[in-house]
Amino acid sequence: MRNSEVAISIKNLTKFYGKFKALDNVSFEVKRGDFFAFLGPNGAGKTTTINVITGLSNYQEGKVSLFGYDTKYDYIQSRRLVGLCAQEFNFDPFLTVRQLLVYQAGYFGILPDRANKRADELMERFQLIEKRNVKHRALSGGMKKRLLLCRALMHDPEILILDEPVAGCDLELKYLIWNYLKQLNSEGKTIFLTTHYMEEAEKLCKTIAIINQGSIVSIGNKKDVLRDKSLEAVFMELTGLE
Ligand SMILES: Nc1ncnc2c1ncn2[C@@H]1O[C@H](COP(=O)(O)OP(=O)(O)OP(=O)(O)O)[C@@H](O)[C@H]1O
Ligand SMILES: [Mg+2]
Repeated sequence: MRNSEVAISIKNLTKFYGKFKALDNVSFEVKRGDFFAFLGPNGAGKTTTINVITGLSNYQEGKVSLFGYDTKYDYIQSRRLVGLCAQEFNFDPFLTVRQLLVYQAGYFGILPDRANKRADELMERFQLIEKRNVKHRALSGGMKKRLLLCRALMHDPEILILDEPVAGCDLELKYLIWNYLKQLNSEGKTIFLTTHYMEEAEKLCKTIAIINQGSIVSIGNKKDVLRDKSLEAVFMELTGLE
């Protein structure tokens, strides 16, 4: 990899939707191996930032790179480095669980034999194996969430991006996902997670950035950020886990 220490680099990123400025001069870095929480209230700009990082959204100003590969100009290399577990379900309605996973691997040049093995491994881990041959619409909400995560992991990306991964999950599922993320991180993967659950950020992450109304208002070590009294107004808008 071109730059082995900085997994995600965002410099002076500004993004408009029409006339609305969704991201205003956002700059930050995520180090290799970090477990990074991107915390902010509804509408703060978290998903927009993720869409830019993963190449789903264009932007007007700034520079975004993954391990030194520019997401606009070196898009083939940068896409390979990242797996996205999106906030919303965005599956092809005609595919079964297994097909969804194997086709995803195909985008990264993984041949069917290996893709099927990887799909089995992930479906076993996330308790989807019994549903392997059903169409995704026959899954429950929590199962769809697990399928999103499996799909993001199919090509074993260096950087895993999770947009509210446990929203709507029951307690058991939350812990299953959290424990797996901790394991992946301990194996060296860089994890970038958005949430508005303070507890999720506190339990899992090493570094926290707070975004509000399209601007980064704080970034640093988890303890320092969560102790920052000047952020109380923003914290009030965030959610505790039920
Ligand atoms: N496609 C779009 N077109 C126009 N405006 C958009 C679009 N997507 C997002 N926005 C606006 O950009 C702002 C940031 O939205 P974004 O989805 O990034 O927020 P978020 O931090 O992910 O919020 P949430 O916690 O609710 O998921 C919001 O005001 C939203 O209405
Ligand atoms: Mg969002």
